[in-house]
Amino acid sequence: MVVKETIWKIEAHTQAKHAVLDRYLKAWLPIMSKWNGRILYIDGFAGPGKYFDEENLPTIDGSPLIALNAARKHKLQLNAEIVFLFIEARHDRCEYLKSLLESIDIPKNMRYEVIESKFDETLSSLLDYLDEQKKRLAPAFVFIDPFGYSDTPFSLIKRITENKKCEVLITFMYSFIKRALTKSDQEGHLDRLLGTQDWRKVRNINIPLKRKEFIQQLYKKQLEEEAKIKYVRFFEMINKFNQTEYFLFFGTNNLEGLRQINAAMWKVDPKGTFQFSDRTNPNQTVLFTPEPDYNLLKKLIVREFRGKTVPVEEIDEFVLISGFTHFKRNILKPMEKAKPHEIEIIESSRERKGTYPPDSLIKFL
Ligand SMILES: C[S@@+](CC[C@H](N)C(=O)[O-])C[C@H]1O[C@@H](n2cnc3c(N)ncnc32)[C@H](O)[C@@H]1O
Repeated sequence: MVVKETIWKIEAHTQAKHAVLDRYLKAWLPIMSKWNGRILYIDGFAGPGKYFDEENLPTIDGSPLIALNAARKHKLQLNAEIVFLFIEARHDRCEYLKSLLESIDIPKNMRYEVIESKFDETLSSLLDYLDEQKKRLAPAFVFIDPFGYSDTPFSLIKRITENKKCEVLITFMYSFIKRALTKSDQEGHLDRLLGTQDWRKVRNINIPLKRKEFIQQLYKKQLEEEAKIKYVRFFEMINKFNQTEYFLFFGTNNLEGLRQINAAMWKVDPKGTFQFSDRTNPNQTVLFTPEPDYNLLKKLIVREFRGKTVPVEEIDEFVLISGFTHFKRNILKPMEKAKPHEIEIIESSRERKGTYPPDSLIKFL
């Protein structure tokens, strides 16, 4: 969907994306502001800041307001300086956003800037400037949420995430990309988007599902191997016509970031108008339903660790990479209680049964 008006009506899948953003930022802001003097929220495709509701009233917040409110209304005291950069290419949308922001009280440790410009040009000049000054980008959360796919070059994503404390959340517009795959005039755009020409191999694949899987895995591989992001996840947004609207790719070098994005995803209520699924691991699809499937998680854990003795941190990382959280209460505790026991605690500084502090060593029987 490419929209001409200044603001437009919100769609269900956008609300889901906003719910993820909101929940993630509420978790990210206190963690990052505890350890850093200054943090950045960069909204690369900020939009006008509001959406029309069902009655065509502009009452629903867009991403800049979601981010700003997550910070200024946070129930914890956020001590870091928090800088919001809202980048938006269109003049009318920038003006609309500025007028909204003017009426908002901003705490002293926060400030924002609305930049009327293109995302790639703005970020490239900022990074060039920092390179010249031999400085690094402050720890940042960068939200990259375009309408299409031509203005988000992979080389720029790579430059951003070379800063190990920067995280990205990218809307990867597969509904547009899939149509471009066979068009010769789009090859340059796709080369830039994916940072490789390897995507052309998709033309030998005839089955649409396999093509989709190829592209999603290629982008993931690029983020992991080229951009060297330690943890990459993606979530698929399927609309009510059972079509993939987009993938939400998330990249972080921080295990805590991975934990929080998983938790954020599980809290989004699919409401039946869309479906979220996680195919980060092509052999295992996790559908986001109101309750995580802990039977599936137990199977995955047992398959991975049966007969082994491992530190609890290793299980934690495996669980997070598999798209889950809360394995201690839901998996380890019942396994320890089972008769016969399914796990044995070899070592632990714990004071209570059923708890598994970081130094615990667990044997899977
Ligand atoms: C999907 S909308 C963003 C919605 C917003 N992130 C939200 O969630 O509320 C994409 C926005 O990017 C703007 N845009 C398009 N090309 C751009 C570019 N190259 N750089 C920055 N903004 C751009 C469009 O005008 C539009 O407002």
